Amino acid sequence: MELTDEEAVKVYDCLFPTMKAAYAKSDKGDASGYSNWRRYSTQSYVSATHGSRYVQNYANASAKAYGAYEEAGAFPPGAKLAKDSFMVNAKGEVSVGPLFMMEKMPAGFNSDSGDWRYTMVMPNGAIAGTTNGQGSANVEFCIGCHIAVAPEQDSVMLLPEEYRVK
Ligand code: HEC
Repeated sequence: MELTDEEAVKVYDCLFPTMKAAYAKSDKGDASGYSNWRRYSTQSYVSATHGSRYVQNYANASAKAYGAYEEAGAFPPGAKLAKDSFMVNAKGEVSVGPLFMMEKMPAGFNSDSGDWRYTMVMPNGAIAGTTNGQGSANVEFCIGCHIAVAPEQDSVMLLPEEYRVK
């Protein structure tokens, strides 16, 4: 079921505390800390590449260049990006989706991933996978898609223009 932009705003506002509590069950600190980072999406929008879920984008202080979008350049180690998500089924029932995270690691961490560590946190707090760590194979598909962006964009895909915080 597709929501209007207005409905997506209401659902997110209503679900945000539940989302935060869900991800906070993870022992990965950023899974609860991300909600204090700056948000770069004006509201939830459908991301076909993340399971057609409704998503928003956050970046920590080290990743503040994200707000320059196509001009951001390469990100420094310590830059962290997070994308929370929810889905709506055919009956209009809403549920929390995974938290998608990227963290820039020191040079040499993983040349295939552009030194990004990809992590997927499930709504029960379980880590589905993290690059070079537990369940690494489960997040290889993240690399496969993100690495395809223009090299000067450093694997960062950016969000649709109409939903960017300017
Ligand atoms: C088929 C392509 C594809 C796959 C697979 C994919 N992503 Fe993305 N990702 C994108 C696109 C496109 C965007 C930006 C637009 C959007 O939000 O849909 C994005 C945005 C992001 C962002 C926000 C930062 C940015 O790049 O702008 C994060 C964080 C992220 N993805 C994490 C992940 C993780 C973690 C996985 C694997 C579990 C993953 N992605 C799998 C295409 C993909």
